[in-house]
Formats: sequence, C-alpha cells, structure tokens
Amino acid sequence: MDMEKYKRINELTIRSFRTLENELRVKVNDSNKELVSQLKKVVNPKSCAKVPVHNWYYLKESYSPDLINKLIESGIIRKPEKRLLDPFMGAGSSLLGAQWLGIPSIGVDINPFFCFLVKTKTKWHRYDLKEIKNFVEKTKKLDTSKKAGFNPPELSTFKRIYDNETLNELLRIKELILSEAERRGAEFDFKACEWRGDIHLNLYWLAFASILEDSSLAKKDGKGLKIVRKGPKERPKELFMSKLKQMYHDIKTIKSQLYPHRKAEVEVINGDTRKLKEIPDNYVNAIVFSPPYCNTFDYTEVYKVELWMLNFVKNYEEFRELRNRTLRSHNLFNSDEIKRWKQEENGKWKNEVLEEIIEFLRTEKLWSPVIPDMVQAYFDDMYIATKNFFRIMENGDVAIVVGNSAYAGVVIPTDLLLMKMAQELGFKPKAVHFVRRLGTSSQQLKILKEAHIRDLLRETIVVYSKE
Ligand SMILES: C[S@@+](CC[C@H](N)C(=O)[O-])C[C@H]1O[C@@H](n2cnc3c(N)ncnc32)[C@H](O)[C@@H]1O
Repeated sequence: MDMEKYKRINELTIRSFRTLENELRVKVNDSNKELVSQLKKVVNPKSCAKVPVHNWYYLKESYSPDLINKLIESGIIRKPEKRLLDPFMGAGSSLLGAQWLGIPSIGVDINPFFCFLVKTKTKWHRYDLKEIKNFVEKTKKLDTSKKAGFNPPELSTFKRIYDNETLNELLRIKELILSEAERRGAEFDFKACEWRGDIHLNLYWLAFASILEDSSLAKKDGKGLKIVRKGPKERPKELFMSKLKQMYHDIKTIKSQLYPHRKAEVEVINGDTRKLKEIPDNYVNAIVFSPPYCNTFDYTEVYKVELWMLNFVKNYEEFRELRNRTLRSHNLFNSDEIKRWKQEENGKWKNEVLEEIIEFLRTEKLWSPVIPDMVQAYFDDMYIATKNFFRIMENGDVAIVVGNSAYAGVVIPTDLLLMKMAQELGFKPKAVHFVRRLGTSSQQLKILKEAHIRDLLRETIVVYSKE
C-alpha cells in the first residue's frame, strides 16, 4: 500500500470521527486512568472465570456481572427504580449483576440456548444440594462403554470434532439426563426454554452443555469453530461430574454467604430485539447491553454444537432460520438471503458519515463482497432496536459496551454512530468512556498504524439517557 492510500484512509477515518464528535458534542473520556482500568477489568471476559454461577458456562463475548455495580457505583448510570433491561442478553451478565444488587431485570435474546442458560443460572437459589449430590452418585455409576440408544443429531460437525468414543460418551450422558426426565415426568418446554416438572434437570442439562467444547477437538472463535491439535485433557464423564460439583459448591457458597437475600425478579424473553412487542411501554429505567459487533461474527455458527446437541435446533432448515433472525452483524453467504436483505430491510437509517464509509468500502477488494451491505444492514437493525428502547424506557440511562471495527484499514465509528442514531430518536448523549484498544489481524493492524488511527479501533461504553 502506498503513502497516498494511507493518507486517504487517515483522512476518511479522522473526518468521520470528528464530524460525529462535533455533532454529538462528546469527547471520548479516557483521562481518568483509574476508571479506565476498573472498566477494563469488568469488561474483559476473563474476569468472568472466577464469578460463581456466572462461570457455569463460558461465553467468550461476555462481560462480568460486576459491570452493573461498577456503572452504578461510579455514577455512569443511575440505579433503576423499576427494572433494568438487557436486550442482547447472551450469558445474562447484566441480569445476574442486577439480581445480586436486588434490582429486577428483564433480558432478551434470539438464541434459545442463551435463554435456557440465563434462566438456569438466575434460579441458583432454588436448587437443592442433596438432590445434586445424589445425581453425581448416579452419574458415577454410568457405564459409558455401553452404546447409546440413539444417534447423534444430524449436524456434520460432530464427526469432525469428536472421535466415536467421545461422541458415544456424550450421548450416554445425554441419555442419562433424558431417562431421569422421563422417570420424573419432566418435559422440555421449548417456548419457555427450560425443563418443566423438575427444576434440577435444567442444571444437569447446563452442566452437559458446558462440557461440549472441552470434550472436543475444537475451540470457539468469532467466526466459527477452529480445530485444535491438542485433544481434551479429561473424559466427558469426568468433566461432567466436575461441573456438577462446581455447581454444588457455588450454590452452597452463595446461598449461605455472598448473596443471601438477593433474589430480585428476573424475566427472560426468547425473542428478537428488533420487535419486542412483548415488553410494554415505559417498562424499564435502565438499559445495559453489549450488542453483536459489526465484525462478521456469527453467534448461531459459534454456538451450533450446543444448539444441536441440546435439541434447540433439529435440522438445517431450523438452523438457517435462526441465523436469519439474528442481528445482521454477520455475512450470510447464501445469495438469496442477501437479495432479501437488500430489498426488504436496507436503507432504514441514513447517515452521511456511514454512507461515505460504505461508498469507500464498495471500491475496495474485501475478503467478503457482502461486507458493505452487512455494515448498512447492521446499523439499520440497531436503529430499529434503538427505536424500541425509546418506547420501553420510562426515563434513565442506557449504557452500551461496544467495539469499533475496521475494514480495508478504515475504522467504522460504531460507538459514535450508535449514539448519533439514539440522539435522532430523542435520547440525550451523555458520555463515551474508553475501555481498551481492540486487537485485529496483523495485516489490518499494520494499515491502522501506518495511517495513524490505531487508537480508534477501541472498545468503549456509550452512555445516553431519556429524561
Ligand atoms: C455480545 S453478545 C452479548 C453478551 C452479553 N452481554 C454477556 O455478557 O454475556 C450479543 C448477543 O446478541 C444476541 N442477538 C443477536 N441477534 C439478536 C436479536 N435480533 N435479538 C436479540 N438478541 C440477539 C446474540 O445471540 C448474543 O447472545
């Protein structure tokens, strides 16, 4: 790339950021180093590893439940009087954080597995320790060398990430839970995303979900599953029993010591944040979330093993259908779907800065030709979602943890664009708090450095309010 090109990238990026900052009258807040370091700590998914209950299942894109406390304590958002909403709930970090502060909350996610996950975690106070202990004993006696009585789900990936013996062992664990459910007269309610008839089955189902990656030859990365050379350290049955023991230990600890009275109401909706008809007007007075970033990550793809193994998805049609309903932060490769995207949904949010960036991207050779359309579709979807936030919010603050993205060296000011659309819809811009610089490919990083825009590829917390 020549100097002229770096100059063009620099000018376009800097102009985009400055224009939006001037229109919004905000400057990125990075001078309070102590605050930046505290925010960085709670936003980093690694900080979740030690949080009891939250760590029953590791979601790479999660922040810590402590973020809610940090935001309120540092005055970034006001404590909600009614309830807090997380419209892109994921592993439910916001809901757990609110629950432990005694704040009622409501969460929405399009992915039924995440809804199941959050329901199971936020009911930590209802599980019986003796029951869990008995189930561990039962699991100990499970003969995993015996052939499972059913075949694995249709997903072809299972054959790539598990050897036959491991897959059979996983199916034997699944069979054990299903036979327990039958014995107890329990059924999985797919609408509610949970077992009905015996609450403990949710715990066992989650323990099963949480060992699927560690038992495999794959690791999750944003764009899908990556095969790794190193095999699993432990057999599925051992992993399953350790998970149950960890759950037992967490429940015992937090019930008796940490959060004795924190059982605020939690509602979970399996739905599309672009619709949200289920939630009445003025229902909440705080919204805290992290949406999918505009970075081509595909949540349906990344969490497909859990979705299929736990029967949330039963065939490829259902799988495609779920992906089609997710926020358009990913690049669908099916040309019919792309055509439908363009005709039906594009062009709902017009912004000159965004238009100029998309124009530029259309002239560049990108690794996927869908990217310029995806970027427009992403902001269209976030615009519809933001409209819903305005209706659902009585008054209070919105805090969004979001990362900017870079394509062809140009950084998209996602944080400022989200704030801009909120301003147009009636919200009042409050602040943009710097959290950390984001990583990217070495090729992209080189361009960003040469163009002197490295620091703009950042993760921030965008705050606006409804008065
Ligand atoms: C960045 S993750 C959220 C992580 C979460 N803050 C946490 O700490 O675990 C984004 C979430 O948005 C969800 N999502 C994607 N499209 C959606 C839609 N149309 N409606 C609701 N949720 C959606 C994804 O399933 C994913 O769980």
